[in-house]
Amino acid sequence: MADQPALPFRVLRASLRAASRASASVVERVLRNGVATTSATGPEAKARAAGPLEVVFDGKPAPARYGATLLETAQLAGLDLRSYCGGNCSCGTCRVVIVSGAAQLSRPEPMEQLVLGMDAERRGDRLACQAQVRGRVEVTIPEFF
Ligand code: FES
Repeated sequence: MADQPALPFRVLRASLRAASRASASVVERVLRNGVATTSATGPEAKARAAGPLEVVFDGKPAPARYGATLLETAQLAGLDLRSYCGGNCSCGTCRVVIVSGAAQLSRPEPMEQLVLGMDAERRGDRLACQAQVRGRVEVTIPEFF
């Protein structure tokens, strides 16, 4: 077996310094923005640049953060939205009726579809603890179901 040439220490040290600088810049970006972003031009970046979002609950507007759930948004606005399982996608009490802007929410995951049931899912209802806000949405909180 032939001997491999040893990597010169000088080259190794320069590589480690470059890697360290790259990591430091990622950490700086995360600390500054709160999240690591890989692209400044994707749909998420455009939505963030568009400014604060709004969710209208039963006609009352509430400020929303991109990616927050409808439940988090309602709770921050001081609205009474049932959530017996604490947002764990198991009770279904946080079900809301989407009046407009359904496309501005994250897609329902299989567990949400299971908890909602076929009828509610077909109507376009969502679990507030699972639906993440990505634009302006208007919802109704049902009195009972
Ligand atoms: S809070 Fe229980 S399913 Fe959403």
